[in-house]
Amino acid sequence: MIFYFSGTGNSRYIAKHLATLTNDTLISITDKDLSATQDARIGLIFPVHAWSAPRLMEDFLVHQLPHLIQHPAPYIYMVCTCGDDIGKTHKIVAQLLKESGYTLAAAFSLIMPDSYIGLPGFDVNSDEVELRKVQASLKLLPSIAEDILNNAIVERVKPGPFPWSKSYILRPLFYRYFAGVRLFHTTDKCTGCGRCKKICPLGNISIENKRPTWGTQCANCLACYHICPHRAIEYGKYSKGKGQYKLLIEK
Ligand SMILES: Cc1cc2nc3c(=O)[nH]c(=O)nc-3n(C[C@H](O)[C@H](O)[C@H](O)COP(=O)(O)O)c2cc1C
Repeated sequence: MIFYFSGTGNSRYIAKHLATLTNDTLISITDKDLSATQDARIGLIFPVHAWSAPRLMEDFLVHQLPHLIQHPAPYIYMVCTCGDDIGKTHKIVAQLLKESGYTLAAAFSLIMPDSYIGLPGFDVNSDEVELRKVQASLKLLPSIAEDILNNAIVERVKPGPFPWSKSYILRPLFYRYFAGVRLFHTTDKCTGCGRCKKICPLGNISIENKRPTWGTQCANCLACYHICPHRAIEYGKYSKGKGQYKLLIEK
């Protein structure tokens, strides 16, 4: 069984390909009725958000996953997708699983098109780089699947420079100052078309008076920002002039 989360489609795309290679069932953690599984192999696939798993994935690992696993000693692996590097994501996930009595046996990271645009210096990649990243990741999938099918105990990840500081110092600061629904707003280009409402993986957007309103269940995935056909959604003051990432968002 593979449990996944995806905002702009990268992790879902990887999850679908991997599920085919490993012959596993795929389920989004945002599904309403997640049922328990007897599977001996549990996959966790998600994007990296601020050098760890998205908070909703972390919550899932602590509060839901232990109730869904029925196998006494499952082989658990994670595959995270990132724009550049993952810091200590795999260590944080391993620690959260350990607290529920489980071991993270294998961790893989894949570099995919960047979806983060919320701070100065962060933007989407060029079309060419996006395609190159996806192709390079697809090439790695057969060997990742082989490791998984062999129940390998491996760490094939790219922590990047200063991983500890990023995951344990910058991450809390990021959530304190640079994340949250309060940052979303629309410009007068908004037509109230509702594409943002439709794409939101958490159903967190409603359309009121022909404008989107964000509820409290935001995963910070930025799918709403990227899907907008009128480029009418901004995220804080630093998204101005930034690009949109659409390659896999509806795949
Ligand atoms: C809020 C947010 C934080 C992010 N943080 C990181 C990060 O710390 N490191 C990184 O390499 N990419 C980061 N990214 C980029 C995503 O991890 C990457 O684009 C991922 O493949 C998106 O997956 P998805 O399309 O399944 O949502 C971030 C993206 C978002 C939206």
